[in-house]
Amino acid sequence: MNTDLSPIDRAKFVAAKRAAQYVRSGMKVGLGTGSTAAWLVQCLGEMIRDEGLQIKGVPTSSRTAQLAKDVGIEVISLDEAKSLDLTIDGADEYDAELNLIKGGGGALLQEKIVATASERMVVIADASKKVETLGAFPLPIEVIPFGWQTSKALVEEALIGMDVLGRTTSLRMNGDAPYVTDEGNHILDLHLNRIGDARQLSIVLNQIPGIVENGLFIDICDTVVIGFGDGKVQVHDMNTDEVEESRFDFVEKDNIFADVED
Ligand code: 5RP
Repeated sequence: MNTDLSPIDRAKFVAAKRAAQYVRSGMKVGLGTGSTAAWLVQCLGEMIRDEGLQIKGVPTSSRTAQLAKDVGIEVISLDEAKSLDLTIDGADEYDAELNLIKGGGGALLQEKIVATASERMVVIADASKKVETLGAFPLPIEVIPFGWQTSKALVEEALIGMDVLGRTTSLRMNGDAPYVTDEGNHILDLHLNRIGDARQLSIVLNQIPGIVENGLFIDICDTVVIGFGDGKVQVHDMNTDEVEESRFDFVEKDNIFADVED
């Protein structure tokens, strides 16, 4: 195994490499955002170059779009694709039912639209993303800039009635300025510590004027591919409730992605 990569990068890489096996020629594929999804995009680029894989990719962010083009994936819009065979994306947290928190990378809106348009969503992650109950990772919600402080106050009011352990909210910053998403919106991070009823919270948040979408992915993901630093990979498929285990021994030539960053 190549030792140039950190254990966490090896874990992300092997998860991406295994998940890339779900991709077949002719497919329209949703391409996630984040450091793990970036490995996936690189793997698909390699399959296009070395194996003649032919796919069309719908990226979930401008960052992923650029990377996909750089590695030779034909990029189309979701409106051109209309529906997708498969989306592969990372996650900030997932629970035993494969409900997710996403949006750590600020792309939750496009990610949710793309995943929902897909027949199947596969999440790729290192083992640290597995949680018993969602909520340790701050829940991102996308808010339109107009009146965002009013929307934030409404969110805080709504949280009073919710089964959560913390209720602090913060505007995500990019240096001295508010973070701006690809859709021109801002992100509020909700520090909830524990989310007792994710389904209910998702519904309540999306009813608040100005909130465009939240980072809870409920009943959207079918399969999680978990990578480990030693090359082990576990695939948990919710449809069959089976866990498959394999091991990936990668050699020097596999370290072509050492410069991949989100
Ligand atoms: C971006 C996301 C990412 O999938 C999530 O943040 C995980 O990122 P990484 O693979 O870098 O840990 O939701 O909006």
